[in-house]
Amino acid sequence: MTQDELKKAVGWAALDFVKPGTIIGVGTGSTAAHFIDALGSIKHQIDGAVSSSEASTQRLQHLGIPVFDLNEVDSLSVYVDGADEINGQMQMIKGGGAALTREKIVAAVADKFICIADASKQVEVLGRFPLPVEVIPMARSYVARELVKLGGLPEYRQNVLTDNGNVILDVHNLRILDPVALERSINALPGVVTVGLFAARGADVALIGTASGVKTIEK
Ligand code: 5RP
Repeated sequence: MTQDELKKAVGWAALDFVKPGTIIGVGTGSTAAHFIDALGSIKHQIDGAVSSSEASTQRLQHLGIPVFDLNEVDSLSVYVDGADEINGQMQMIKGGGAALTREKIVAAVADKFICIADASKQVEVLGRFPLPVEVIPMARSYVARELVKLGGLPEYRQNVLTDNGNVILDVHNLRILDPVALERSINALPGVVTVGLFAARGADVALIGTASGVKTIEK
């Protein structure tokens, strides 16, 4: 199976976690796009979605799924999204698609985070994938210097502005042995909007696409 076929398998498998008559939190990226397509097939059974990016909003609306502003919504039964890396503790690196801030906000509202990923995203230790950090543009150089002090090698993601009008620093050279502590330290730097470590609030369920089928891991 190709990597995209594995992503499609987990995107469709996530339908098992969609509660009819509720509003669904929807992530961003190529795996989440398969989930959105799957959601389109049951669109009359759900009330709608809250989206984590302009790209996902467009895909949802194209399929005729109502998209709500998060401020209009008190609760979300689930949040379904991909990941760049996931470890055995269900902690993740996210933000390869630059949507990390909205992803973290929507995930925070949801009762359950369902991570959908092909098996290549599973790691023992987070950090081989460069850790995305969304930064207010004027703070870029300052935050980069602080990230070097934390042991990373930040790289400015060229020609990318987030949906919130900010920039991304991708931090290389990290071996993240204490994800909760690093998430806290980076989030505390003035100018940082969000770090793409989802550690304090990780996934509740991971659906992992493998050649022998979709594996379900529950926290
Ligand atoms: C976007 C994300 C994505 O979930 C992550 O980059 C995985 O993407 P893909 O499903 O395309 O492999 O965090 O900001």
